[in-house]
Amino acid sequence: MKLMSAHIEDLRTLYISHLKMALDMEQKITKALPDLIENAADTDLATAFTNHLEETKGHVASVASLLESNAGEAESETCKVVGALATAAADTIKDVTDPSIRDIALIGAAQQVEHHEIAVYGTLRRWAEILGLEADAQVLESIEAEEEAADELLTEISERVNFVAAV
Ligand SMILES: [Fe+2]
Repeated sequence: MKLMSAHIEDLRTLYISHLKMALDMEQKITKALPDLIENAADTDLATAFTNHLEETKGHVASVASLLESNAGEAESETCKVVGALATAAADTIKDVTDPSIRDIALIGAAQQVEHHEIAVYGTLRRWAEILGLEADAQVLESIEAEEEAADELLTEISERVNFVAAV
């Protein structure tokens, strides 16, 4: 019994640490998206990025409130993965000059971020369930659903943009 509660305590620490990284991840995405909006040639793509920026601001607020309820304060920890992906996206904007090829590259960069986010929230949701934090699990599941919808929309847009770039 003691061993089990020690394990749960470890998982709780791990959960809070990963929530802190999720906060930094969302803050970094909030900073990176305006550049993607500005550099998207396709209007649907620019609109998708603009809408996702608003959703991302909501994710920052939701993760911050989960941290406040679990740890007393909304402190962040560095998310190295999205830091590297944001740098790669910024390089793409600098290096790719053809507008439709650049749109394809921006979609690729954004989908790499979305897939990382989906993995992060899927993991956090499962950990919240194991810890018996049902309300947390629901919040995390709804963020995960928004990331999945954003990813699917990018796939849809890419089908058209890929065609434009090919011709
Ligand atoms: Fe997000």
